[in-house]
Amino acid sequence: MTTLAVDIGGTKIAAAVCDENDAIIQRWRVPTPMDADAINDNIAKVYREAVAAGHRIEAIGVSAAGNVAADRRTMTFSANIPAWLNYDLSEHIGALIDHAVPVVVENDANCAGWGEYVHGAGQGSANMVALTVGTGLGGAIVINGQLFRGSFGMAAEIGHLPMVPDGSHCGCGLLGCAERYTSGTALENYAKSAVRRRPQDAKRLLELCGGDVNKLEGPMVSQAAQEGDELSLTAFDNIGEWLGRTMAAIAAVLDPDLFVIGGGVVAVGDILLEPARRNYALYLEGSAYREHAKIVAATAGQDAGLIGAANLALR
Ligand code: BGC
Ligand code: NA
Ligand code: ZN
Repeated sequence: MTTLAVDIGGTKIAAAVCDENDAIIQRWRVPTPMDADAINDNIAKVYREAVAAGHRIEAIGVSAAGNVAADRRTMTFSANIPAWLNYDLSEHIGALIDHAVPVVVENDANCAGWGEYVHGAGQGSANMVALTVGTGLGGAIVINGQLFRGSFGMAAEIGHLPMVPDGSHCGCGLLGCAERYTSGTALENYAKSAVRRRPQDAKRLLELCGGDVNKLEGPMVSQAAQEGDELSLTAFDNIGEWLGRTMAAIAAVLDPDLFVIGGGVVAVGDILLEPARRNYALYLEGSAYREHAKIVAATAGQDAGLIGAANLALR
């Protein structure tokens, strides 16, 4: 028996047939259309191809960015896909495949965090919080071995923890959300404004973006930081500080033993994690007189979301 895991990302839809141990047997990768119907069509097409290839699919697990209702079917809100407003994603996909198998929808960061918990850096933790530092900031909470979804499905929307009163505008409509200060987008924004303010110190970054600061992207900042570029390291210190502050706020509520940091931005390792750990210790309540959660990089890699979606589809 197998599951079909589908990860609807901002730029691509990744899909994989996974065996009963969540190991990937076959993969697909298609660009993400902006149109909700076209997304459903693509997923149905991949399902039909998987069946035609002889896989006995038991369920489809879909990972999607945004708020997923407690029914594990409905996207209530997503900054990515405007049509996903109280949108029964499960029903829309199911209708295209004659409801041959259940379609279970989960928040993308919940999938990635759960993937880390079952097969990656989170194994063995009693109470774990996973943070996905990418375009946005995603969260997953595992308490006593269970994914914690809250009462309405929306627990662990950590990217929208209000960190700065009346702060920067967030895609969700609120001000001062954590992901405005710690995410790949925040890294890029910080680096861009630093380049504009201090062009004399931005030789390497300007080189990487071809002299046009508007073309500067997060991965360039990561590359420069790894080469030791001072301005880029400052950008990481900045998002690392906010990551630490955000984790300290989470610890005040959940007191986890482990934070697993995933997403593309953590590829730089300690360049991000060191300032995060330092500021976590600084902003943690009673810091000197308690045990501190470990803060580690994710290890399940790019496939964490698929693996988590596959595993959750049958739970
Ligand atoms: C969204 C979350 C999502 C996270 C990571 C946030 O902006 O609100 O639902 O999990 O980004 O993609
Ligand atoms: Na989440
Ligand atoms: Zn927000």
